[in-house]
Parts: sequence; C-alpha cells; structure tokens
Amino acid sequence: MEMESNYFSNYPPPKALPRHEALARAFIELQLEHKRRVVLVTSGGTTVPLENQTVRFIDNFSAGTRGAASAEQFLENGYAVIFLHRQFSLLPYSRHYSHSTNCFLDFMDEDATTSSIVVRSEYQHAMRDVLRKYRYAKQNNLLLVLPFTTVTEYIFELRAMANLMKPLGANALFYLAAAVSDFFIPRDRMAEHKIQSSEIPSDIAKKHDQPIQDDDVYTGYNESEEQQQQPNKSKKLIVDLDPVPKFLHRLVDGWAPEGSMIVSFKLETDPNLLVYKARASLQRYAHHLVIGNLLSTRKWEVVFVTPEPPHERWIRVPKSKRSKSISGEQNQIGLAEGSRNKQKEEKEEEQAGQDLDTDLEIECMIIPKLVQLHTKRIELVK
Ligand code: PMT
Repeated sequence: MEMESNYFSNYPPPKALPRHEALARAFIELQLEHKRRVVLVTSGGTTVPLENQTVRFIDNFSAGTRGAASAEQFLENGYAVIFLHRQFSLLPYSRHYSHSTNCFLDFMDEDATTSSIVVRSEYQHAMRDVLRKYRYAKQNNLLLVLPFTTVTEYIFELRAMANLMKPLGANALFYLAAAVSDFFIPRDRMAEHKIQSSEIPSDIAKKHDQPIQDDDVYTGYNESEEQQQQPNKSKKLIVDLDPVPKFLHRLVDGWAPEGSMIVSFKLETDPNLLVYKARASLQRYAHHLVIGNLLSTRKWEVVFVTPEPPHERWIRVPKSKRSKSISGEQNQIGLAEGSRNKQKEEKEEEQAGQDLDTDLEIECMIIPKLVQLHTKRIELVK
C-alpha cells in the first residue's frame, strides 16, 4: 500500500490521462445505458526509459497480437472493449494489414482503366469481412482505443480505467494481456538527459556493488585523450533496476469494481514452471483466472488455471489448424502439461477442427470459454 502511494506520488500522471479519462467516462456511460458488458484489454509491452528525456529504453518482445486478436473476439461476443495498448503495437482489425507482417500496400492494385486504387480480387472477401466488423464496432461506439508507452503510464492508466469502470460492477472484465515490465529505474536515479557514452552518471556508478575493472568496464568518466584513442577498449553501461511494484494486488483489492472478473496472464519460457507459476499467481493475488502460456507455443496452446475445479484446463488449436509461426516451436506443445493423454487428445482435436478449412487463432477458442466463466461469475454475484 505504502509502496503504491509512493509510486504514484513520485511520478507525474501521463499528459494524456485527463483526455483518456474523459473519453472512457463517456464510453462507459454509453455502455451502462445499453447494459453491455465491458472488458478492459491490456496489450503489448511497456517500455522502461533509461533517461527522463528519453532517447533509450528497455523493451520486450510483445507485439500485441494476443490483445488485439482477443479484442476482436470480445466484440464478436457482444462486449464493448477498452483497448489499452502500447502505442504502435497491433490494433484490432487493422492488425490484419499491418506494416510489418502484412504490408497493406501488397493488398492493393491500380485499376488499369480508371487508375483508381482497388483491393486485389483474392483479398476482397477477407478484407470486406474485416472492414465490416471494424465499421460496426466504430459506428456503434463499441471500441475505445487508448495508448500508453512506459510502464508508469500503463499503471496510471490501469488505475484510472478500473476506477471509472466501478459503476459496471460484475459486468466489468479485466483481461491483462500486456507484457508489463518487472524492473524499472526509479525517478530519483534516472538521468535527466541522454546518457553520454563518454561520461557516466555518478549515481549509477556509485550504486553498482561489484568492483568495476577499469579495463573492461567503461561507463564514462572523463577519459584522457590517450585512453580515447585505444581502439579496442570495451564499453559498458551499468544500469541498476528496481522491481516494479505488483499492481495486480491493488487492482483486485481496491481499484476494480465489486463483483468484476479479473484475468491475468502468466508467461514463462520453461515448461516445468508454467503451471506452478500460474497457480502461485492465482493464490497470491486471489483473483479469478490466470491464463498461462509459453513463449514458444503461445499461439497454439494456453492453460486456464482457476480456483475452482478442474483447476487446470488446457486449450489447444487442433493440429491441422495451427498457423505457422517463425518464432514458435510446435514440438514443445504439451510439454508444460503434466498428465497428458496425447493420442486421445489429438483425436478430439482433429474432430473439432474437421469442418474448418483455414488456420484458427487460439483467441477464437479462449474468449468463448472465458465468456462462459464471466457469465457464471455474474450469476454468482447477483
Ligand atoms: O503480444 P503477444 O506477442 O501476442 O504476446 C502475448 C503475451 C505472451 C505477452 C501474453 O499472452 C502474456 O502472457 N502477457 C502477460 C505477460 C506477463 O507480463 O507476465 P508476468 O508474469 O510478468 O505478469 C503476470 C501478471 O502480473 C500480468 O498479468 C500483469 O498484469 C501483472 N503484473 C506484472 C508486472 C507488474 N509490475 N505488476 C503486475 O501486476
């Protein structure tokens, strides 16, 4: 609690916060009128600036696919969505035509007779479908898109959105898919200006508890002309990071509306740790669901860890429906599940996937299951 208030009093709120609050307030009022369920989806990574006037920052891998794909599925299931995302990460609907993986220009052509720009015939069907859904969400005010960049901005925004969602009660759902940094540089240790490669900020140098070898550690100091001429002198920047306070506790215990449902994610790389860590998180924060995923298989399998039986439920995309993923490792599927009947499961998976002829995104399986759990919770707290 003290850590939390210190955190908030040490940082100025993000400049965009008052505008985001005004937008969210109006959005939530509208959803209340329509008695709609509202989900706050967090998405993408958070940055950890190394300088107050930030030139450099620490980041993580998250592209925001999980969050953006999930937001689309929530909309399909009748929810209104507040999409709190890392600026420039993937957005619902437009993600299908993003600059990096699917350059939007590749979907277009110039009409030979009129010179108008048209969508190439092979993409018409899919794009029409995406465009209709996007327009529907926009025209009916079902999607509010709010950006953040740093971990501090994320935490301020999360607190503000949760407070604004209070009137929604059990109709509020929190789906925390953002990859939030666990470490940061507190304000009192942060350099104001760009860290100079020829000069070390003395506070960082002093706080480093390992002795620094002059020869292999270079963090500035005022070098002599002679030293600066040495061609192979290695250079290092030593950064001391503090843990970011865990705000899930505060969300569960105070910020979120009474009766609402809180879903967090647990990401691991070691299959042996995943379920253990997901369970530990659920016990620690006493919320409602942890969705565990491995970095290498996250597009094809996740595990729902709940306080109620069955406690652990795996969701897997049927083998024939798995999308190709450059970073993914299909041979790691199933490794994090202790007692697994692979043959029976694969038979069931194939049957489930028989009537589908395209790749299936796992969010199409996650969200309907989650909606069922949310419905149960709403009935329980009535
Ligand atoms: O974006 P993609 O490329 O599609 O990848 C999706 C994903 C792998 C990022 C996503 O599925 C996922 O797992 N997101 C959560 C990753 C994560 O931050 O896990 P964690 O173990 O660090 O945190 C667990 C929970 O604690 C999170 O829900 C977070 O909201 C919360 N947390 C984290 C840090 C912090 N300081 N305070 C918190 O409350």
